Amino acid sequence: MGILINKSENIFSLQSKNTSYVFGVDSEGLLRNLYWGSKIQDIEDFDMPILTEVSTNDPVYEITREEYPVYGSLRYKEHCLKVTFSDKSRELVYKYSGYDINDDELIIKLKDSYYDFNINLHYKVYEQYDLIERYVSIKNNSNDIIEIEKIHSGQFHIPYEGLNFSNVHGHWGAEQQRFIQKVNYGKIVIENRRGISTHNHNPYFILDKDATETTGEVFFGALKLSGNFSGIIEQTQYGETLVQMGINSHDFLMELKPKEEFVTPAIIAGYSNSGFEIMTHNLHNFAKDNILRKGLRPVLYNSWEATEFKVSCDEQIKLAEKAKEIGAELFVVDDGWFGERHGIDNGLGDWYVNRDKFPDGLDPLIKKVKDMDMMFGIWVEPEMVNPLSQLYKEHPEWIYHFETRESDTSRGQYVLNVTKKEVKEFIYNMLDNLLSTYDIDYIKWDANRPMSQTDIEKDIWYKHIEAIYDIVRELKIKHPNVLFEACASGGGRIDYGILGIFDDFWTSDNTDAYDRLFIQDSYSYIYPIKAMRAWVTDCPNFLSKRVIPMKFRYHSAMMGTLGVGCNILKFNEDEIKLSQELIKEYKEIRHIIQEGDFYRIENTSKNNYSIYQYNKDGESLLFVFLPQSLIGHRGTNIKLRGLENNSKYIIRINGEELIKSGDYLMNRGLEIKLSGDYASDIIKINKI
Ligand code: DGJ
Repeated sequence: MGILINKSENIFSLQSKNTSYVFGVDSEGLLRNLYWGSKIQDIEDFDMPILTEVSTNDPVYEITREEYPVYGSLRYKEHCLKVTFSDKSRELVYKYSGYDINDDELIIKLKDSYYDFNINLHYKVYEQYDLIERYVSIKNNSNDIIEIEKIHSGQFHIPYEGLNFSNVHGHWGAEQQRFIQKVNYGKIVIENRRGISTHNHNPYFILDKDATETTGEVFFGALKLSGNFSGIIEQTQYGETLVQMGINSHDFLMELKPKEEFVTPAIIAGYSNSGFEIMTHNLHNFAKDNILRKGLRPVLYNSWEATEFKVSCDEQIKLAEKAKEIGAELFVVDDGWFGERHGIDNGLGDWYVNRDKFPDGLDPLIKKVKDMDMMFGIWVEPEMVNPLSQLYKEHPEWIYHFETRESDTSRGQYVLNVTKKEVKEFIYNMLDNLLSTYDIDYIKWDANRPMSQTDIEKDIWYKHIEAIYDIVRELKIKHPNVLFEACASGGGRIDYGILGIFDDFWTSDNTDAYDRLFIQDSYSYIYPIKAMRAWVTDCPNFLSKRVIPMKFRYHSAMMGTLGVGCNILKFNEDEIKLSQELIKEYKEIRHIIQEGDFYRIENTSKNNYSIYQYNKDGESLLFVFLPQSLIGHRGTNIKLRGLENNSKYIIRINGEELIKSGDYLMNRGLEIKLSGDYASDIIKINKI
């Protein structure tokens, strides 16, 4: 049982494999955090410290490690919840009113001392993954409307100062750039205000105490939300660091009607006392087993970079034939197949097949793809509409807008107000119709602009993404075999919310194989490899203008779920042969890549090696990259991870076979030397 309770002291301990998270109720009825860290078996060891003011200027509320601080009284720190009652009172005064346990979920019940308003704090323990999940539900039991101005999903207390905070920054084509900064006095805020994008920051926190991959304490949490989020990290004046995450309160106001309940997105959180690697494994395993769709992901071909908007049935058939020849299992027609879609300015909203491009509809292409025993996928951008489209002419009132203002376009398009019943129905019906009419296995759902002018209702920022989740959930009920890819101008929608709704995730429009090493490295800290789509594309790369040998491009893309986005009609014989060989190899090893344990391996050389390892049931892979060989041209010594000490392993390297023990490989390591620029290798290691 992952939940221990000391009933006489009202102390609760969430026990996962190696971690304890402990809190309790004090004599004032305040819920106070007592501990988060390495496992402490005995709950009896914990008691509730008596609080004393530092001075009258430092009220006890400021010092109290509250589990869920609300706005009101002498509290000036970040609160998680702020409401306005119908009489305009803005102060919450909660009192503990008991707990419930449902299976592995602990529910702490708090109630306002005057108003009929309940706050329930939910905690789930995922013992084997060493993770806990937190979320909050609030219920208005009164007969009046209550306005919610801010609601975060939880607050964590870390008993240290001077921690390192890491997250990613970036923009389109440059997502997932990891940064680390020292936490000092004051606050760090990461957020998203665009409604649609996580290009800039990502809804998770990692706080470490000078950790490495394998040593040091790490506290982390990932929010299950694809819309506007905020995360606040604050080193307080009282010797600790607070973190909270949840729906962004920027331009947010939600009305809770009488008897209405609201449930926040959850945070999956954990602690490691031995570095980032364990954090990654716990999150990856949890996501693979509990969030993501089961099964291996197919090798995909996507026509976007090859044709952009200039799609035609004949050319797509030719591409499909070539895609089959090199070994692709899924053929995806990207943007441009519908309406008057010849560029970014028109077509969105008019989801009929363009008869100039596909004179006999999509069927001839789909038949060809299916006859070749491939899956068929198609691109859509359902939340958007172009001003020139028929849909917009018929329903100008369907977009987010303010009556007195000119509506913003971005990429030549408006955002549909999917929170309107009729718009939601339109999108559902359009996709249902597409999936019912055609034999489609895969939908690539794109979203290419941020939201703006989001109407008079301020909760739309949140409701928009909820509506998208609903539509996809509904479609999956009727079309359970269809895979959905989440894409938003590249990696604009990557988070733990979307992982549970969609099945495939476009990491970035940046397909430069060298840039991708950095993007994929950062991505891997939190997100499972199965959720990292990576394509091989043409050179010079459209974005970086860089020219990289094809083998390196494949190896870089083989680190995730492999796709090809080249104009394969232009491939010469050597390129076809190499593609065939590497795609075949990928299919043989993808179970290790997509479902194994992933390791970021230290490079001990002064030369620029990037090294990654995957392990699954006695099979291991080492991906080694040397983008540019530096003067000295040294090799590197690779100490493998996660092997069995006393087992023997066979290593296939440069056409030779070596046999070494796990002990040797993990401690002495393998000497590897690659030569030249853009050198790469995949080394296979098997337990004997
Ligand atoms: C942005 C996506 O990230 C690309 O892969 C492609 O689908 C384009 N949109 C199409 O407009």
